[in-house]
Amino acid sequence: MYIDQLRLKSFRNYDQCAITLTPGINIFIGKNGQGKTNLLESIYFMSTTKSHRNIEDVQLIKLNEEFSCIDCHTCYEDQKLWFSAVIHKKGKNLSIRNQSVKKVSEFIGKINAVLFSPTDMNLFDASPKYRRHFLDVELGKMSNIYINQLNTYNRLLKERNAYLKQDNVDRILFDAITEQMILPQVSIIKKRQLFVDKLNGYITKFYQLMTESDDVIKIKYDSVVNYDIDDEVIKHDLISKYETTRDRDLLLRQTNIGIHREDIVFTINDFDVLAMASQGQKRMIIIALKLSLVAIIHEYTNEYPILLLDDVLSELDNHKKNRLIQILPKKVQTIITTTDPEDLLDSIMNQAVIYKIEKGSANQWMKNKSMI
Ligand SMILES: Nc1ncnc2c1ncn2[C@@H]1O[C@H](COP(=O)(O)OP(=O)(O)O)[C@@H](O)[C@H]1O
Ligand SMILES: [Mg+2]
Repeated sequence: MYIDQLRLKSFRNYDQCAITLTPGINIFIGKNGQGKTNLLESIYFMSTTKSHRNIEDVQLIKLNEEFSCIDCHTCYEDQKLWFSAVIHKKGKNLSIRNQSVKKVSEFIGKINAVLFSPTDMNLFDASPKYRRHFLDVELGKMSNIYINQLNTYNRLLKERNAYLKQDNVDRILFDAITEQMILPQVSIIKKRQLFVDKLNGYITKFYQLMTESDDVIKIKYDSVVNYDIDDEVIKHDLISKYETTRDRDLLLRQTNIGIHREDIVFTINDFDVLAMASQGQKRMIIIALKLSLVAIIHEYTNEYPILLLDDVLSELDNHKKNRLIQILPKKVQTIITTTDPEDLLDSIMNQAVIYKIEKGSANQWMKNKSMI
């Protein structure tokens, strides 16, 4: 799938903007603060119905405006679709082909975008919540069953925690909620494990292609249970863990185990990335992770996602810039932002369409660096 037209109205620093994109490599070049990340953010929003920056939707609306609109025209084989989002101060309306979408989960992932953002460098040293968020967003884009199961689990977890805050816990209701929390978790654990296994099938290959090293990157899923392929085994493991921790939960008045406490750990040559990898290596691991995601999404959905690379080039030497461009799967629409005209190596210029972003307007730009 690719986006051939993106229209923004009153979105961030954009007043009105319409951009025609190419199915291949698109580069947005412009000075800081002009609206490059905002453009990627609008596409990411159409993929996930949320910004990648940890903010409320209302901040996406241009200052002093009442609402904001994002329209995306997509092409997939011979199918063309219109996706629209209107963001109001009190909520958002989503539609596909002018048909309003009742459940957000029916919209998420229809446009599948994978984003590299400089803030992804936090993945290793941030709290486990950040890494779980990564798992949930990516799995959610590929499966609305996953989103529904996660929503069910989170609702039950909230109820269970509310019971735990009461002075006299109704044990029968409390146990009933705990029991209902088991099955969604079995399914989520299986999907998370499979996803991590699939990432492990790609990440080292992409890392080695980028770095020309022999380093081995692995991701370990730190689950609440000892993983087993048999659902019944996972189920019984969970039940017995909840029984063991019940008294502790009652004492501490919170749910201490469950998928809301899981994590993933990255290693390089079997050492923790957090302790061992340099900043440069961490960046390469993130890029390899994003390229792995592209491959997995294609495997799961038979469609290539759109790859959004925000400020990725400036930190790479010319050799690595070239390698990255070479490695990008040819069928993936890629949108790259940069501030630096020096990033536009001839090898990149030959393959890309370039747009200049200035004060919230985007114009296709002629292939002559001196014009910047
Ligand atoms: N809701 C908003 N209304 C108007 N301008 C905004 C809004 N949110 C952000 N901006 C402006 O957008 C600009 C930042 O855009 P961004 O895409 O992050 O820049 P960059 O080109 O460096 O990636 C800043 O000038 C900021 O003031
Ligand atoms: Mg930016």
